[in-house]
Amino acid sequence: MNKDFLSILDITKDELTEILTNAIYLKKLRKKGKLPEVLRGKSLAMIFEKSSTRTHISFEVGMNELGGHALFLSTRDLQIDRGEEIRDTARVASSYVSAVMIRAFKHTTIEEFAKYATIPVINGLSDQEHPCQILADLMTIKEHFGSMQGLRVAWVGDGNNVCNSLILSSALTGIRLSIACPKGFTPSKSILKKAKDNGSLIQLEPSPDDAVKDADVIVTDTWVSMGDENEREERLRAFKGYTVNEHLLSRASEDVWVLHCLPAHRGEEISNGVIDGNRSLVWDEAENRLHAQKALLIKLLKTK
Ligand code: CP
Ligand code: NVA
Repeated sequence: MNKDFLSILDITKDELTEILTNAIYLKKLRKKGKLPEVLRGKSLAMIFEKSSTRTHISFEVGMNELGGHALFLSTRDLQIDRGEEIRDTARVASSYVSAVMIRAFKHTTIEEFAKYATIPVINGLSDQEHPCQILADLMTIKEHFGSMQGLRVAWVGDGNNVCNSLILSSALTGIRLSIACPKGFTPSKSILKKAKDNGSLIQLEPSPDDAVKDADVIVTDTWVSMGDENEREERLRAFKGYTVNEHLLSRASEDVWVLHCLPAHRGEEISNGVIDGNRSLVWDEAENRLHAQKALLIKLLKTK
């Protein structure tokens, strides 16, 4: 296992299988009231440059349930805000805690932190990737379908950080991806190239209807990610017709399932009827952040 989890491609196919299998097992144990405290004495620093509900709560509760401890650190309150260098913060944090989870605007900030930290660093979302989210999404898919090989997943919306991690993950799962994004909002060429070089199976489609036609799962996310707020009006115009709503679901198989990482902007990228409807796996997906990240933390931190 790599020291860090900055990208979904920082784990191998076998490591992904192990993490997801353990996540499903930990979920079952928890439902029986059993919480194995295998990370007793370990601590996780959680550094946030941006807002969070799920990532913050699930990592903090996850560490506590594993017998460890988590610290919430907003960059507004750290010396980083007053100019202390990332590399100095990384060196110092390495002497106090067992691992660091960072949510940052720039992916390069997390990479720099990881370069100077001697402990595992986890990407809790950057402009480039959201690998922890994709662990939970894959866990949700595995729970519902048993296997991922050959499944068809359609991404409808912005070619953003969550989409990038999903694209890269296809190399590990054998999932076939159909992607529909408006012109100007497709995933970056470098991500598509990296994914294809690693064996991902990806098809860019001209419209949401084309993307969802044979899909087993439809995935979407906000059209205005954190940091894109000043483009909101332009984006709302560009994404017209990309809402995952009842009409789009009628173009897919009646067995299709829907994922959304949340937070949702109801009426924009997803309709109320779909997110609250009987094809939505969104609430399982959100819960699975907890289980998937516990399995990830064990993989990164447990000493044999
Ligand atoms: N999906 C997700 O990462 O949610 P938060 O922004 O609330 O952490
Ligand atoms: N793409 C979204 C995901 C939020 C969890 C963002 O970056 O804001």
